[in-house]
Amino acid sequence: MITVGTTAGAAYIVAALLFILALAGLSRHETARAGQTFGVTGMAVALAATVAAAVHRDLSGAGLTLMIGAMAVGAAIGLWRARVVPMTGMPELIALLHSFVGLAAVLVGWNGYLHVEATLHGPVSGQAAALQARELLGIHSAEVFIGVFIGAVTFTGSIVAFLKLSARIRSAPLMLPGRNRLNLAALAVCAVLTTWFVIDPALWLLVAVTVVALALGWHLVASIGGGDMPVVVSMLNSYSGWAAAASGFLLENDLLIITGALVGASGAYLSSVMCKAMNRSFVSVIAGGFGLETGPADDTDYGEHREITAEGVAELLGTADSVIITPGYGMAVAQAQYGVAELTRRLRDLDVDVRFGIHPVAGRLPGHMNVLLAEAKVPYDIVLEMDEINDDFDGTTVVLVIGANDTVNPAAAEDPGSPIAGMPVLQVWNADNVIVFKRSMASGYAGVQNPLFYRENSAMLFGDAKDRVEDILRVL
Ligand code: TAP
Repeated sequence: MITVGTTAGAAYIVAALLFILALAGLSRHETARAGQTFGVTGMAVALAATVAAAVHRDLSGAGLTLMIGAMAVGAAIGLWRARVVPMTGMPELIALLHSFVGLAAVLVGWNGYLHVEATLHGPVSGQAAALQARELLGIHSAEVFIGVFIGAVTFTGSIVAFLKLSARIRSAPLMLPGRNRLNLAALAVCAVLTTWFVIDPALWLLVAVTVVALALGWHLVASIGGGDMPVVVSMLNSYSGWAAAASGFLLENDLLIITGALVGASGAYLSSVMCKAMNRSFVSVIAGGFGLETGPADDTDYGEHREITAEGVAELLGTADSVIITPGYGMAVAQAQYGVAELTRRLRDLDVDVRFGIHPVAGRLPGHMNVLLAEAKVPYDIVLEMDEINDDFDGTTVVLVIGANDTVNPAAAEDPGSPIAGMPVLQVWNADNVIVFKRSMASGYAGVQNPLFYRENSAMLFGDAKDRVEDILRVL
């Protein structure tokens, strides 16, 4: 089905193919750059085709100017944000962008209503008359409702994710009494409203579904704890894809349907892969923490922690046979990766076996640590995934935990009542000595205490990770 001028329709197909190639390319390190180029080219083709299609449909001069002006403003803001956003701010930027897709889907749905259903009681619009003649009015009403519903859930859900990820609100889960029943009730209400709207497309029904869906999106993400936010972001990515696809049906735009479906399906797949990596139930995460019960706040007294100086760490490293470095979000904040890379080189020159252990959700976005280490030219072959290295901590002389916290928390493995119980973690505590680089005893992203800091074989090296690594380098 090509619904616009033939040239523009052909361009849409080319753009869709480029998006598929982009996804395929982005799935591997070696082809990621090519994937990026395919994606950018596809988007440029799609934008040009959209303008061409508008011209083909006799869009007025003022309308065309408005459209090109909006594209220029959007592109300028996009370029500016992409240039200035720090790597650590990427997840919240992505969450914010998802909220725009959700809002756009709501507006497209409302626009569809105003052009068709709203005219049924007055002078009937040409579009409404055409749909009536083809007996497709009910389908249109369902598309309006579904688009508004998915868009509104995505919009408020993404705003909450943005607020949590940027630490503007607490990341702990909101535990309203009967929260699962609230979510189910909201879903049931929306299903009833949809059926009602298809039979009688009244304005108040559209207002009602918009309000209920906005509240549902807010509540779904507010109910999910900090530790599960990586899955939430990829899930919202998927929702934003389905919202775009729903808008594609309303706008009769094939490219939007294909692209939305690609984003929706790949986001859902990524969410399920991440759930597996974090030992979380996919259904429980997409249903706003359905079935997850969090116990009372952990106020256990784990005893005293031990401190060590940079000189002490340098001495320990100088006599070590093997060292494993487990970086986390704090290494990104401190920008300590260059010092860590230099420390690795020096230790390897001293014949120490140095390797890295990378947790799948270390940092704030998938692959965060790998990107930082590659940037600092740490050789790929000593950077290992959690599953590849977890059995090797036992027998390792020193583990350097650089700005990691949740991803090395033994409570995940040993305390069934912990909010992160069951999440696979790097078992650093099995090593002979564990040195934790951080600035205080504060908890990590999930807001959970870490008993690792109080173990007999652990010692805290307080301060900014970059400064402390440089102190060690000076002594070495
Ligand atoms: P976190 O648990 O977030 O802990 C990072 C630690 O770094 C903090 O405890 C902090 O302690 C320390 N830190 C911060 N700035 C520092 C600095 N300048 N120098 C030294 N230390 C510093 O880190 P993690 O182990 O990487 O775990 C990641 C968490 O983020 C997980 O809960 C994960 O679920 C969540 N998350 C991940 C993603 C993805 S996809 N990776 C996305 C969103 C959320 P101080 O304040 O005491 O220094």
